[in-house]
Amino acid sequence: MDSTKYINDLIKNRRSIFPKSYNGKPVSKEIINQVLENANWAPTHKHTEPWRFKVFRGKGLHKLSDELVKIYNEITPTEKQTDRKREKIKTNPLKSDTVIAICMQRDPEESIPEWEEVAAVACAVQNMQLTCVANNVGCYWSSPKTIYHLDSFLKLNKGEVCLGFLYIGNYDTQEFIGKRTPIQDKVSWIVD
Ligand SMILES: Cc1cc2nc3c(=O)[nH]c(=O)nc-3n(C[C@H](O)[C@H](O)[C@H](O)COP(=O)(O)O)c2cc1C
Repeated sequence: MDSTKYINDLIKNRRSIFPKSYNGKPVSKEIINQVLENANWAPTHKHTEPWRFKVFRGKGLHKLSDELVKIYNEITPTEKQTDRKREKIKTNPLKSDTVIAICMQRDPEESIPEWEEVAAVACAVQNMQLTCVANNVGCYWSSPKTIYHLDSFLKLNKGEVCLGFLYIGNYDTQEFIGKRTPIQDKVSWIVD
């Protein structure tokens, strides 16, 4: 296939696919390894390679589910807690094949600004998402409030922060409609 058409289709057809759409069919370890390997080829200023990943599969998903519910109960004022939200937090990891905690390790030398490290991690995540699309696997980047309370659970190092989770699972083929306003509204051309 023409590689330009392939990359255009891959990028445009990527959609966030949420755990409620996952069908429970296993995603192979080879695909998960490919997702991680492609993350590693993101651009990185001064080669700090700040992306770090904690991969939850199998029983690990139950541990993650329990921990996220525990944190939700702890950080949410009682009057704001709902059974519906608690159930969603609990079942999202269990409906997934794999959940990858997306982390950023700040360079101890602080040789570049923190935002550049976050940007490099986001580039890595896009590589991961596109690898999922190429394999017809669903995924989405989730950034719940619980991520600010995971230091000990994720055994984060000094200078390491969690930026969210990549939920991954197979789904039955169906159309997910993408929505964007025109690029022309966001671009200024300076040509003379
Ligand atoms: C940094 C980042 C954090 C996100 N966090 C969430 C989230 O917490 N919950 C959620 O439903 N979607 C989250 N998303 C996914 C967006 O909802 C999704 O990208 C958006 O709706 C556009 O849909 P599309 O990805 O299918 O194009 C996040 C996306 C990014 C890039």
